[in-house]
Amino acid sequence: DTLEGAQRPAHQKHQKRRLPQCLIIGVRKGGTRALLEFLNLHPNIAAEKKEMHFFDDEVNYNRGLEFYRKRMPYSYEDQVTLEKTPAYFVEEVVPGRVSAMNSSIKLILILRDPVERAISDYMQIYTTRHERGKTHETFENLAFDAMTGDVNKSYKAIRRSIYHRHMERWLEHFPLHQFHFVSAENLVQNPVEELRKVEDFLQIDHRLTQDHFYFNQTRGFYCMHLQHRQKCLAPSKGRAHIPIDQDVIYKLREFFRPHNQEMYELVGMNFGWP
Ligand code: A3P
Repeated sequence: DTLEGAQRPAHQKHQKRRLPQCLIIGVRKGGTRALLEFLNLHPNIAAEKKEMHFFDDEVNYNRGLEFYRKRMPYSYEDQVTLEKTPAYFVEEVVPGRVSAMNSSIKLILILRDPVERAISDYMQIYTTRHERGKTHETFENLAFDAMTGDVNKSYKAIRRSIYHRHMERWLEHFPLHQFHFVSAENLVQNPVEELRKVEDFLQIDHRLTQDHFYFNQTRGFYCMHLQHRQKCLAPSKGRAHIPIDQDVIYKLREFFRPHNQEMYELVGMNFGWP
């Protein structure tokens, strides 16, 4: 799906499968698919489209690095091999294992307003159950403790949104300069601007331009111009969220405010979440 054909000089024609030099580690529902697909338009990127779950899944991990390498796409020497598995960000065993493979690997984390992200996470599970004809708890019942009314920190959709907790663990294994943070909100609004920063981080030329994208009014998102067709992400990306009471949103914002502040300080970047 790169816009360029394979017209490369002879010395570059040799393709092989390589271990990733960069990982998109999360965050789930942050726009990880959009980021991966958009980056894959770049001639110097070879992205694996399947989520590999190599570092978080015991069975996969125990199969070893050769198993992992063989599942990577073919790439040229001047291409960065990239994989994305959003579970990596939150699963405790992952940072140490990634570091054991390659301690200088580049790590990309796309971050979204934690309240929106938690609701999106809920929507994913809710929709799956709904499609199977099953009922599902309301978001409010899951997100708050019925007895105390406090935010339920053990609910996964909430826990995954407490970014600094996970980030602190990653920083025990990697220095901050090996991470690049993408603003989920800005990727939606200005994909080219966000992608330019990723190109800089990966030390590849600025090749992703406005010509690669067009705004699709029906979807409400940017879609891609491929060589002979246009492509939007699957309909499961950009779902309508169920309406949530304003006081529920308010309580969640109050809960996340200090956590967000800690994250901003930890990574030295203010994401401007409300
Ligand atoms: P919602 O479904 O809550 O809107 P992930 O790929 O990590 O699961 O993230 C899914 C989210 O990607 C969607 O969440 C959507 O907001 C976001 N997204 C960002 N850019 C998009 C695009 N161009 N097309 C569709 N969804 C996009």
